[in-house]
Amino acid sequence: MRQASGELFPTDSPLPASEMIGRRDDVREVATRLAAGTHLIVAGPRRTGKTSACEAALARLRRRGNYTARVDLFRVADAAELAEAVATSVIANRSAAHRALRRARAFGRAALSAAQAQLLLRLVGELGEGVELALSPGRAAQDPERALDLALELPERVARADGERLVLFFDEFQEVASARRPYGDPDAVTNRMRAIFQRSTSVSYLFAGSIEHTMRNLFAPARRAFSGFGSFYSLRAIGEEEWRRGLAERFAADDCTIGDAALGRLVELGDGHPRATMRVAQQTHLVSIELGTREIDLELVQLGFERALEGDRPTMEQVVERVRLLHKHGLLVAREVAAGRAPPRRLHPGVRDRVLKLLRDAGILEHQSRGRWRVIDPLLRRYLATLDPFA
Ligand SMILES: Nc1ncnc2c1ncn2[C@@H]1O[C@H](COP(=O)(O)OP(=O)(O)O)[C@@H](O)[C@H]1O
Ligand SMILES: [Mg+2]
Repeated sequence: MRQASGELFPTDSPLPASEMIGRRDDVREVATRLAAGTHLIVAGPRRTGKTSACEAALARLRRRGNYTARVDLFRVADAAELAEAVATSVIANRSAAHRALRRARAFGRAALSAAQAQLLLRLVGELGEGVELALSPGRAAQDPERALDLALELPERVARADGERLVLFFDEFQEVASARRPYGDPDAVTNRMRAIFQRSTSVSYLFAGSIEHTMRNLFAPARRAFSGFGSFYSLRAIGEEEWRRGLAERFAADDCTIGDAALGRLVELGDGHPRATMRVAQQTHLVSIELGTREIDLELVQLGFERALEGDRPTMEQVVERVRLLHKHGLLVAREVAAGRAPPRRLHPGVRDRVLKLLRDAGILEHQSRGRWRVIDPLLRRYLATLDPFA
């Protein structure tokens, strides 16, 4: 029996700390700074391991006795849900209360034992109305704005009451500034957040976000609510040696051997991009199963790479569609960067600069050094380069 490729090399979700390759120093450093009361912002392109690293830091903090809570704004539709999600995650740190709470949410308060009902009553008395949000689904919807205030004040109350530091992790935080205004007017929401966070001296905040410029806009300029709140933390690149060791271990878990050349090629094709590297490894492993071999060689890696490209095609076609909508010259510039070609003459340099910035803000390109740009995802890079009508 062979192991499932998608389990050996997951690509669709954050990785549990035990399966992460590299990142040990990052996890330790993020956890240490949060434990010391610093607020951190982790901004970077999608699928580069932000959530995995932040969750691992939280797990580390929990092991050391800190309280932790998390909300993923991608999953939260509006202010009322945000309030409920924060309250529920914060209360989860009190395990007895959490059990009672889960029961109350699932079956109604009538389903609680006398002791559980008593516990929840005490909790409301001790921690205030914010607890009610976690307790009664839908309650926050009656007055979402007030509910959100109550929920955001809850972490400090719980931390204070128990004499613990609480770390609250907001994933995909750029959503607060989204044009759809899911939680209300962005300036108003962030102002209220800042006011509460500032008073919450027992709480450390961790913000992750995949639209880098939005995150910078939220936290950097002086006129923004969050300006000067917390410091930016950049995850280090996962080193070539770490990739080699990590990937070889993963293959070995399915009794596969991989030669030096094949391993080097795999790391090279992934180009340091966590999700792309894992995807190529995953598809290479899948090919090895189909061919009934446990020896991973260069040829298999090449087949794996082609499979990865093929499998990602639907998503990449959507990206191309977005690039086209971004600017009429969007695709022209993206292809030029992907293929490493000189800028097209017919494009005015000012226009090209503007398009490059749009592509950067869309999380597709990154600026490397003066005048040098690249497509962040190596699979997308290859795809765009092959779209080149002049190739
Ligand atoms: N440390 C790591 N080691 C190996 N693969 C990783 C690592 N971090 C991320 N990945 C890969 O990237 C994918 C996305 O990770 P995730 O943490 O969700 O990224 P982000 O939050 O930046 O979008 C994972 O499913 C995995 O394939
Ligand atoms: Mg994420």
